[in-house]
Amino acid sequence: MLVSIGTASTAAYIVAALLFILALAGLSHHETAKVGNTFGIFGMAIALVATITVALDDEMDVLPIVLLVAAMAIGAVIGLWRSRVVEMTGMPELIALLHSFVGLAAVLVGWNGYLEVEDDPGSHHADVLAAQDLLGVHSAEVFIGVFIGAVTFTGSIVAFLKLSARMKSAPLVLPGKNYINLGALAAFAGLTVWFVIDPQLWLLVLVTLVALALGWHLVASIGGGDMPVVVSMLNSYSGWAAAASGFLLENDLLIVTGALVGSSGAYLSYIMCQAMNRSFISVIAGGFGIEAPSSGDTDYGEHKEIQSVDAADLLADARSVIITPGYGMAVAQAQYPVAELTAKLRERGVDVRFGIHPVAGRLPGHMNVLLAEAKVPYDIVLEMDEINDDFPSTDVVLVIGANDTVNPAAAEDPTSPIAGMPVLEVWNASEVIVFKRSMATGYAGVQNPLFFRDNSRMLFGDAKVKVDEIIHNLPD
Ligand code: TAP
Repeated sequence: MLVSIGTASTAAYIVAALLFILALAGLSHHETAKVGNTFGIFGMAIALVATITVALDDEMDVLPIVLLVAAMAIGAVIGLWRSRVVEMTGMPELIALLHSFVGLAAVLVGWNGYLEVEDDPGSHHADVLAAQDLLGVHSAEVFIGVFIGAVTFTGSIVAFLKLSARMKSAPLVLPGKNYINLGALAAFAGLTVWFVIDPQLWLLVLVTLVALALGWHLVASIGGGDMPVVVSMLNSYSGWAAAASGFLLENDLLIVTGALVGSSGAYLSYIMCQAMNRSFISVIAGGFGIEAPSSGDTDYGEHKEIQSVDAADLLADARSVIITPGYGMAVAQAQYPVAELTAKLRERGVDVRFGIHPVAGRLPGHMNVLLAEAKVPYDIVLEMDEINDDFPSTDVVLVIGANDTVNPAAAEDPTSPIAGMPVLEVWNASEVIVFKRSMATGYAGVQNPLFFRDNSRMLFGDAKVKVDEIIHNLPD
């Protein structure tokens, strides 16, 4: 053979790692996201072929190979099915669930490492490590990998439960919660040293339990409004968990890939924290330093309603309109009538623009994707920072299925759970029409004083139906 399997696999790993870097670069702009995804798919295909070829070359038994291929086939079928049927609004919870698998895999790899080496000191693998004086390093890898994996596993399960509304989104505030987290970290540090010196089974069991509890507590302690940051933080954790598995499996590509996911996820969490005026350290430490939020049962008075016919007249007479969409537009699939209404108003000479909050909806860029799908021109879709100063000179704002992202309490009530989060200051416009089905709260579970302001009126019903009615009732 001209080139050995080892050399070929190293070359394949380098190509795959480069493709993953290109994938990340592509995913950073929505025009290039599809190409980025394709790079990622090719990178993963190359990585899988190279890894399996190396395993075959190592004269692995037939049974493990059969099991590996069967597991991959089952996983691929489930993955294809889920990605075809998942609604866009269900993406964040699916991503959280997938992160939990990475965490669980890291725990299993770590435990397997323990059974192969620390629990079987006479094995070939243990002999090789002992000859290189690397047994202590291996024990540390096992311990750290299991810890990161278990935190990622339960943290992601809680994120999945919160995002899919199977668990309340309000933060869990246990007495002394910061000390619980710090205590768990201190215990982990102490137990790691102990395990490296004397790798006993009960230490591994204990750290697994501590990490499972810590992951659960970290994410349960974070309120609904901060969940976007949590999802990207868990993405980062899953990367570090994969990198830890890469060390144990002596797979360089897994180390590189894990580090890429870990560092890009950490950076994304950091920029999301900046956009939402949150302390990065506080969020990654499970709401460290955040006090128990107010109960939110303030009486804001009566709200006023408007019907579609009157809303149509108001819009026909307006000179400037800003539309601020949110999660409800996605649920109602109202982007198509919203695009049609926009076109009709623009034909009448009304200046229509969109104001997009960085966490509107349930995943980054959610609103931009929906509006692009409905062919709303890019140049009238503006970011929050670009449009916030224009509300005072705007005649009508249409809040379509948005709630937390237009909540004045974030700016005005320091005891609110979303205090300090920048919001679209829609209340500064002359008239505000809020499209929603009821007076229910948004994702963060806090009441919105906007609905009770003198210049606000509620248009109750499904957003798609109501926008269609307005189009129908626009005067000639
Ligand atoms: P939300 O605060 O969740 O409010 C959405 C509103 O839409 C609800 O008040 C709901 O009221 C209304 N709605 C639902 N279905 C509707 C329908 N068919 N027709 C009309 N209205 C409907 O949304 P937002 O303002 O977009 O804020 C996003 C929230 O999600 C933030 O708290 C954010 O932190 C969180 N979050 C964001 C992300 C990312 S990355 N974007 C990820 C996870 C969580 P009714 O039930 O009364 O209709």
